[in-house]
Amino acid sequence: MTPTPQTIEQEYAAKRPKSRALYERATGLMPSGAAHDGRVFSPFPFYVDRADGARKWDVDGHEYLDCWSGHGALVLGHNHPAVVRAITEQVKRGTHYSACSELEIRWAELIRECVPGAERVRFTMTGTETTALAIRVARAATGRTKIIKFQGHFHGIHDAVVAAVRDPFEIPVSAGVPPEVLRATVVARPNRIDEVAKLLDEHEVAAVILEPAAGRSMVVPTNPTFLRELRELTSRRNVILIFDEVVTGFRLAAGGAQEYFGVTADLTCLAKAVAGGLPGAALVGRADLLDSISFKGDAKRDRTQRVADQGTYSGTPLVAAAGVAALEILKTGEVQKHINRLGDRIRDGLNAVLATRQVHGCVYGHASVFRMFLGATKQELGLDTWQLDEARLERGMGAVGPKLHLAMLNNGVDYNRGTANGWLNGAMTDADIDRIVDAFDRSLTRLKEDGALERIA
Ligand SMILES: Cc1ncc(COP(=O)(O)O)c(C=O)c1O
Repeated sequence: MTPTPQTIEQEYAAKRPKSRALYERATGLMPSGAAHDGRVFSPFPFYVDRADGARKWDVDGHEYLDCWSGHGALVLGHNHPAVVRAITEQVKRGTHYSACSELEIRWAELIRECVPGAERVRFTMTGTETTALAIRVARAATGRTKIIKFQGHFHGIHDAVVAAVRDPFEIPVSAGVPPEVLRATVVARPNRIDEVAKLLDEHEVAAVILEPAAGRSMVVPTNPTFLRELRELTSRRNVILIFDEVVTGFRLAAGGAQEYFGVTADLTCLAKAVAGGLPGAALVGRADLLDSISFKGDAKRDRTQRVADQGTYSGTPLVAAAGVAALEILKTGEVQKHINRLGDRIRDGLNAVLATRQVHGCVYGHASVFRMFLGATKQELGLDTWQLDEARLERGMGAVGPKLHLAMLNNGVDYNRGTANGWLNGAMTDADIDRIVDAFDRSLTRLKEDGALERIA
């Protein structure tokens, strides 16, 4: 007879023999046994067999409500019928034409309809590629080299943006980046307009880039007042303002964070939701900036001053078909209204559980994005007054974070473990939110039994 599992980890492992076997097969084959840093964890990751709507199922037969939602890309949920139909029809007509198609035009038109300031659209494939292109365009337009990024903000993994992503901020998030490249990135702390103004005095800056709603989706929120001040400051100094809306685009509202906060950037980086869950992305923004990519018919200018950009998969018909199908739905803003309401419900519900169970913690966020935090209240984190305790917000829950994630998995809920962020999707219902709240309640009880909550203050 198998002994009753004692700890949350043992329970997790005992119930997933097939995932364990797959992980053993993957180890030594792929770095860390996986394709993405964020998907590996101890004791081993679970392997998913299929997904549908708000849910996914692992190879051992467990069902999860999926609050990771395709790393945030699946604003409509898994396998939305309109997206599936569009992809299925398109795949029979070809996936890559090595040529233009009408689909890419429709896709660009929809983006322009939704996103404030999207006078031009350039398709790319990933968020990383898009923030790199935005920076290149800004440098070409201004003739300046340096960029300002914010501590704790993530813009992908190319060289210009690996600085100050995670604590300790003085160590870039990746090895292998030349120091001279790192020196071109100036780091500011979030929400301090005077600090940005001083850095603009001290450096020749081409662009300021940020995640408009919060660093790493919902770790250190951005004060909307700061966002407005930053817009004014950068306009006054003729510095390009780049919004990284890879997560927030089409999620906070049809027009993303720009519509939600009423602030328009010069350049906006879109990925994830823009392509309906397929690998597709876009740089959008001011015509005069994006036209630096255009051929102008002047051979000398086109060869020496044009911003070069091309990608094998940029704007290809299969991805465009998914993007068009998704944006035709997302453009109305109805899905966002639904998931934003569910966002309020889940934050209220999870906070009520913390209060009832007398667990020291809070759940915060914007719209359909929530972040769980055990060990400090909203007041202690300064979330209500914008006197943010950034160090604590960045540190997160410490050792209890992975335990909470395993307990939630054991209770049928997945989310982004690294930041304890959840992203809701349009397939979710009020009943699903109740189930997630219930899973949180049961997980906290389990954490208490495990003694894990004694370590949080
Ligand atoms: C805000 C933000 N920017 C950029 C990226 C990078 O996008 P990608 O993974 O498509 O390269 C991500 C990925 O999660 C992100 O969250």
